[in-house]
Amino acid sequence: MRAALVTSQDPHDPLAGLTLKHDHPEPEPKPGHTLVRMRAASLNPHDVWTLRGVGHPAERVPMVLGCDGAGVTDDGREVVLYPVIGDAERGAGDVTLDPERALLSETIDGALADAVLVPDQLLVDKPSEVSFVDAACLGIAWGTAYRMLFTRGQVRPGSTVLVQGASGGVSSAAIALARAAGATVYATSRTAAKREFALTQGAHDVFEHGERLPRKVDVVIENVGAATWEHTMRAVRPGGTIVVCGATTGAMPPAELNRIFYQQISVVGSTACTRDEFVRMLEFLDRTGLRPSTETLRFDEIPAGLGRLVDGEVLGKLVVSFED
Ligand SMILES: NC(=O)c1ccc[n+]([C@@H]2O[C@H](COP(=O)([O-])OP(=O)(O)OC[C@H]3O[C@@H](n4cnc5c(N)ncnc54)[C@H](OP(=O)(O)O)[C@@H]3O)[C@@H](O)[C@H]2O)c1
Repeated sequence: MRAALVTSQDPHDPLAGLTLKHDHPEPEPKPGHTLVRMRAASLNPHDVWTLRGVGHPAERVPMVLGCDGAGVTDDGREVVLYPVIGDAERGAGDVTLDPERALLSETIDGALADAVLVPDQLLVDKPSEVSFVDAACLGIAWGTAYRMLFTRGQVRPGSTVLVQGASGGVSSAAIALARAAGATVYATSRTAAKREFALTQGAHDVFEHGERLPRKVDVVIENVGAATWEHTMRAVRPGGTIVVCGATTGAMPPAELNRIFYQQISVVGSTACTRDEFVRMLEFLDRTGLRPSTETLRFDEIPAGLGRLVDGEVLGKLVVSFED
């Protein structure tokens, strides 16, 4: 079968350790696990971090990449993969707080292959109205955005939300979900074309990084990090919340502790989503008709797609189709 693997790691040249195989062995059956024949799997910065050797120890190489996907089991069930492997009990009822949790492709082979063997608890029925390509984006980018907004950020109808970075998988999902939930949505981006894209995703208004907003916001959705942090700190209202799930441009901006305590700002971390949040999000998409913005690639285009993620040249989500 076809599979995209990390075969070595290089922090400066992540694509050097990417190997596309056309004769990779199919996974062997295992009790409590199900073989899923993939129809589509999306690319994430997580694949790039793995290739750089960040958060993925060398002893777990080689490994099939891919945290996100949708496919069909051998008994005909159409499924989307919930990407978090863990034990909710170890996380006091929340699997994302399990200290031993892992994402698909961290401890077992991932979704960028014709077939993947996953623990049964990762299987979630795919709504029939959601295509395989759209479903393949939902586990990481959309699930993370959903938890950031509605669980960690407590966004409600009438909230005002700033989404830093507009074009990325998490940011574009946050814009669309917040708008559909009745929030006022501002977004920033580096380029005019990407700001235009943010408007198509549902932003009410768009801004350059650092630009003054019409008013301060209740919640900032942050995954850009150092490049936008100063703006984030000034954009949130006194008593507001900054929800952080990533730091693409650097994780060590000045903390501005004076501003945090004087303005009583909550800085809240967020990672992935629970299975319950994931299922609720699928229902939300099913009922509202909301869908990710996707571009579909062939298997052989995975290196080019990951290169575009490294360069920040993606609008929405890149999805690999396994249907050809
Ligand atoms: N904790 C979690 O569970 C979790 C889950 C998913 C993702 N993440 C992390 O969150 C981050 C975003 O993930 P993603 O899937 O959305 O990635 P992505 O699709 O590659 O998007 C990257 C985002 O960062 C912005 N950006 C990149 N370089 C920038 C720069 N130099 N200056 C300003 N903005 C820049 C882009 O905004 P513009 O180009 O529009 O300006 C874009 O919105 C990654 O670091 C990822 O590892 C964490």
